[in-house]
Amino acid sequence: MTWGAIATWRMAHDGVVEALRLLAENDQAGDAVEALIKTVEDYPYYKSVGYGGLPNAAGILELDAAYMDGDSFKIGAVAGIRDVKNPISVARKLSEEKFNSFRVGEGATNYAMLEGFERKNMLTRRAHRIWEKRLEEIRLYNLNPYDGHDTVGAIALDQAGTMVAGTSSSGLFMKAPGRVGDSPLSGSGFYVDSEIGGAAATGLGEDLMKGCLSYEIVRLMGEGLSPQKACDQAVYGFHDKLTQRYGKAGAFSLIAMNKAGEWGVATNVEFTFSVGNEQNKPQIFIANKGENHTTHIEPITKEWLEAYEKRIKAPVE
Ligand code: GLY
Repeated sequence: MTWGAIATWRMAHDGVVEALRLLAENDQAGDAVEALIKTVEDYPYYKSVGYGGLPNAAGILELDAAYMDGDSFKIGAVAGIRDVKNPISVARKLSEEKFNSFRVGEGATNYAMLEGFERKNMLTRRAHRIWEKRLEEIRLYNLNPYDGHDTVGAIALDQAGTMVAGTSSSGLFMKAPGRVGDSPLSGSGFYVDSEIGGAAATGLGEDLMKGCLSYEIVRLMGEGLSPQKACDQAVYGFHDKLTQRYGKAGAFSLIAMNKAGEWGVATNVEFTFSVGNEQNKPQIFIANKGENHTTHIEPITKEWLEAYEKRIKAPVE
């Protein structure tokens, strides 16, 4: 059987490389997704996931994550968890629980502590400084405070045909305390059925939740659409509908992989992602909305990557 993995944003690439290494060695999709997402959670320069993530309006870092097994439909999720090293691992552990498998706030943090997960101050000095600066800018220039919601979402397919989806996010920068986005919500942030395929989202959670886009993409793949056609139809169809009925659509991007390891993406903003499978080495691509409900996808350039490296590590005055 074939295997593969896809994940949102350039930040997921090292994790995709690791996931594909595991999958090539016949490891399970669950281990691949957890390893992939932990790589992103642990890297301090990614400011929208895990360690180094940006805090809420009160200066507190509240993290969301979810894990879903496409064989059994088991789901575990956490929202607003604080100071726990790898929220994705807590979500995976919760997926084994018959009851109480989605925990929020103190309940999520206490569960992680009782289960022996590592406690860690997840708010870096750099993230705190970015928050301080943003508060000052909002005060001075009367800006919209909300910015940045680059979730890592991942789908893996292993050699046994099992598919797993996972997400992890610090959510919307400057979110109100207690605000939760799409990332830990089944159907919105992620969905997977090993007999069909999986999908995951990144973008403005409030709008992603209005369309349940991850579920919709899996449903369309189940009707026989390719992952690319399913993404195009679900994402652009909903973008248009939301614009018409709600007045505007926030930024959102979706990835999908089917049980044959074929993949697709659609997005209403510039969007990078990493993907690989048995036939193709992991590679970073850039996607943009094309004409007539299609997606324009091309490999990332060296110049883009260099500029990205500089940008994420630029000093914060
Ligand atoms: N997509 C992440 C969030 O809105 O929280």
